[in-house]
Amino acid sequence: MKSMMVGTAKGIEIKIRNFEISDIRRMMKIEEESNLDGNAGLYLELYDNWPEGFLVAEREEEVIGFVVMVLTPEGEGRVFALAVDSRYRGKGVGRTLLKAGFSVLRKRKVGYVKLEARVSNQIAQRLYKSMGFVEIGFAPFYYKNGEGAIVMSKVL
Ligand SMILES: CC(C)(COP(=O)(O)OP(=O)(O)OC[C@H]1O[C@@H](n2cnc3c(N)ncnc32)[C@H](O)[C@@H]1OP(=O)(O)O)[C@@H](O)C(=O)NCCC(=O)NCCS
Repeated sequence: MKSMMVGTAKGIEIKIRNFEISDIRRMMKIEEESNLDGNAGLYLELYDNWPEGFLVAEREEEVIGFVVMVLTPEGEGRVFALAVDSRYRGKGVGRTLLKAGFSVLRKRKVGYVKLEARVSNQIAQRLYKSMGFVEIGFAPFYYKNGEGAIVMSKVL
């Protein structure tokens, strides 16, 4: 996608653009503070597989959030990760990243997207529900610490 300036629903200006390899340090910093389970090696492998699925949000030349989507062999989309720098949460950045991600999927004619969220992560679940996701299942012991995941999906 082309890089674009967007005003979030809560009034901050951000740039949404494709991920670049040099963003990996910032991305991993945000990942770590966000209680996600990934690591740089895994992200870079996913990026190699489908670079279009990686978007970042930037403000004042600094990466402040990202969304990572992957395509399954069946042609479904999956939100693999979404995180926003804790200083910028609650300002509409996460919602804007997800919307941009969905438009990338739609351009690829992907009609269905799935994701997992920690059972304890009410904030993420609320965001996803407000964007049309419905709960379709539960994956026990999904995360490294043994926590289960709520599985959600949405028709694009
Ligand atoms: C989940 C996350 C990405 C949301 O990003 P964000 O930029 O803070 O979210 P937004 O400002 O776009 O808010 C979107 C919606 O999320 C929910 N939300 C956000 N912050 C919330 C809060 N503090 N309390 C309750 N709901 C909240 C609301 O539904 C909100 O919509 P509304 O403002 O219209 O009510 C962010 O909190 C984050 O990085 N968390 C840690 C990582 C994580 O949990 N990732 C998801 C893994 S499944």
